[in-house]
Amino acid sequence: MTLSSKSDSAQSGDRKISTSKIEGYRRPRAGTQPNHLHTPYASCIKRAPSKPLIYVPHTLSEITGPLFEKDIVPVKAYDLTRQHAGEPLGQRIIVTGRVMDENGRPARNALIEVWQANAAGRYVHKRDQHDAPLDPNFSGRGQTFTDSEGRYRFITIRPGEYPWSNHYNAWRPAHIHFSVFGTSFVERLITQMYFPGDPLLVMDPIYQSIADRRAAELLVARFDMATTVESWALGYVFDIVLGGAVPTPVDGVK
Ligand SMILES: [Fe+2]
Repeated sequence: MTLSSKSDSAQSGDRKISTSKIEGYRRPRAGTQPNHLHTPYASCIKRAPSKPLIYVPHTLSEITGPLFEKDIVPVKAYDLTRQHAGEPLGQRIIVTGRVMDENGRPARNALIEVWQANAAGRYVHKRDQHDAPLDPNFSGRGQTFTDSEGRYRFITIRPGEYPWSNHYNAWRPAHIHFSVFGTSFVERLITQMYFPGDPLLVMDPIYQSIADRRAAELLVARFDMATTVESWALGYVFDIVLGGAVPTPVDGVK
């Protein structure tokens, strides 16, 4: 967050919005975020803006944000395999990485939340009617905070692919949903992490809605032997940038 003596204003319809002394965050480069209207992704056709967007300058409300007390998250909430009496079915994995701001500085004490399907590709949600079994030992939700270097770590199982009704024989690639709270509301990020080498990525309308292919590749985690634990879990690295020149593309779907 920066404050300056710059005086700024913008027209929004017939309303004039004053942003005196506030310098906002940089906006994402064109193509690095999902297109609002990407017709192969059926759900966005109704909800995409039908009129040109209005540039709204950042105000104090956008460049500040909530500060979370660490005790709101149970200490072991980072481990999705230890939330029930037994261990969940599936390949145990470690997902770790760094959260950084647009200048490469660590996002300290950032709240990260994840949610995902179980190993069979089924969510614990009443609207998920996929013909696949629920796992009584897996809820698919986790939380943690980044440390002083912006690092985080989750232990979970590799989620399964699942069918969805977007088009005939449509299947989502395996993915983990991420929500990150940075230091401001502008830095709030909701995205999805994918797995390297997934053959479904090339035909997934959500992944393909990002025009900049280099930006889209940032959503694919890196398999990392150094993170893998012998005889116990495979390891993946997924770094997150909350803005700047190469931000992690946002997303917000099941
Ligand atoms: Fe999903």
